[in-house]
Amino acid sequence: MYQRHENLENFIRVARVLFQAPALPEGARQSAAKAFERLEHPSDNGARNSNRYPACDLLGTALAPLLDHPSSLGAAARAIGPLEPFIGWQRRTSGLNGSENYVEQHVNGMICGPGGMESRYDVQLGFALLAPFTRYPDHQHAPEEAYVLLSRGEFRQGDGDWFDPGVGGGLFNTPNMLHAMRSGAVPLFALWCLLV
Ligand SMILES: [Fe+2]
Repeated sequence: MYQRHENLENFIRVARVLFQAPALPEGARQSAAKAFERLEHPSDNGARNSNRYPACDLLGTALAPLLDHPSSLGAAARAIGPLEPFIGWQRRTSGLNGSENYVEQHVNGMICGPGGMESRYDVQLGFALLAPFTRYPDHQHAPEEAYVLLSRGEFRQGDGDWFDPGVGGGLFNTPNMLHAMRSGAVPLFALWCLLV
């Protein structure tokens, strides 16, 4: 029987706190609450993605500013490092308005969800990692989605203005809402969870 590793249990516990921060929109907190309820039940089909990509090497740089923080954000940043060898990496290769070479300049890390460290289909918990000055393509998906930022970075929903939720802030994408993100001078690191 599958047993969740304590490092993953620890990460899920600290991530759950981040997704309930008052700085998040209420919709994000509510959606994440349901996602983390599902994560109370460990489940893994063993279908982990084993590829690595160039942007994976940015993980340490992206999290370094938070590693010494005595906050939940710091705890989350510290909890990700031990998971690194088991993360299921994937890249988006389609969509409009991505910056030049964005495929090489970004990666998505699946922790819980299809192809992830805990591969499953009822929920997704992972993160986006963008190199500096990278714009991720416009995209949309049926599952609603909550984000929490562990770095600076800008987001856009529909044809609205770009905005930076700030470190520890977040946003909520309703089902099929078109959205995009872009980094400035530092790598963008954003945790996401989707209610599938
Ligand atoms: Fe998304």
